[in-house]
Amino acid sequence: MGEWKVKRLAGALGAEVHGADLSVASEQDAEQIKALLEEHMVLFFPEQSINHDQHVALGRYFGELEGHPQLKNAYLDHPEIFELAATKGGIADEWHTDLTFLESPALMSILHMVKCPPTGGDTMWTSLYAAYDALSEPMKELCEGLTALHDEAPHNRPDKTMIHPVVRVHPETGRKALYVNEHFTRRIVEMNATESDMLLSYLTKWVQNPRFTVRYSWSEGTIGMWDNRFTQHFVLNDFDSERIIQRVTVMGDHPQGVGEPRWKPWVRPGPLSATSRYDRQLYFHLKEQGMM
Ligand SMILES: [Fe+2]
Repeated sequence: MGEWKVKRLAGALGAEVHGADLSVASEQDAEQIKALLEEHMVLFFPEQSINHDQHVALGRYFGELEGHPQLKNAYLDHPEIFELAATKGGIADEWHTDLTFLESPALMSILHMVKCPPTGGDTMWTSLYAAYDALSEPMKELCEGLTALHDEAPHNRPDKTMIHPVVRVHPETGRKALYVNEHFTRRIVEMNATESDMLLSYLTKWVQNPRFTVRYSWSEGTIGMWDNRFTQHFVLNDFDSERIIQRVTVMGDHPQGVGEPRWKPWVRPGPLSATSRYDRQLYFHLKEQGMM
């Protein structure tokens, strides 16, 4: 194995790695990738050539692979590989962490850029550690005591909901990250609807501050990997030619917060009113979970 050359791409996160051949990745290579991912959170390996078997084998070094609940692909020879083609509407142009409406959202993804436009279609990532670290102390303290309801409304399933801590803690390092995203996070559980809207719209915009981000311009054959627990990403919808990615996703763990939520879920007092509809989704989630 030759020496890998690692080039950091931005202040907050991101690195490009040269000198690796991921088609024959070994256990040691996977260990090295894990360490690099911990440091840079998103990695790019240009000029790779891997087939489906090699893509799946690479993914398995990092854990069990999952299927994406929304994407269907009938013709690839591996159920673990999902293909997203832009011409079929697969452009994720809203900031998100993948699948946070699930109890245990994905740990990481490994993306193979199979076909991309000559210009446009860049992807951006943001570091949720950096976004948390840059908050003021009072805001950090408030957020650490809160949880938020996430839903699958972007895939027309607003009834599919899950509560996660607003501040997520890395299980090994204890590092804290701001874990809300504009795509799937709908409601601060402990606040009323208008307070929740105000805080969520602030926090989900805050994580998009350019200084927490890296932007990557793809070329065909590049493999990108990201830590899906402590980052969000966004695809620039500024192209009209074909863009095809193939991806494997490693199953994740249950997000841990700083401690128990500091306050009870907010439940509207008194009789139903014209504004009760704003609480309906939270109410049904809490009821279903036996939390009220
Ligand atoms: Fe995504």
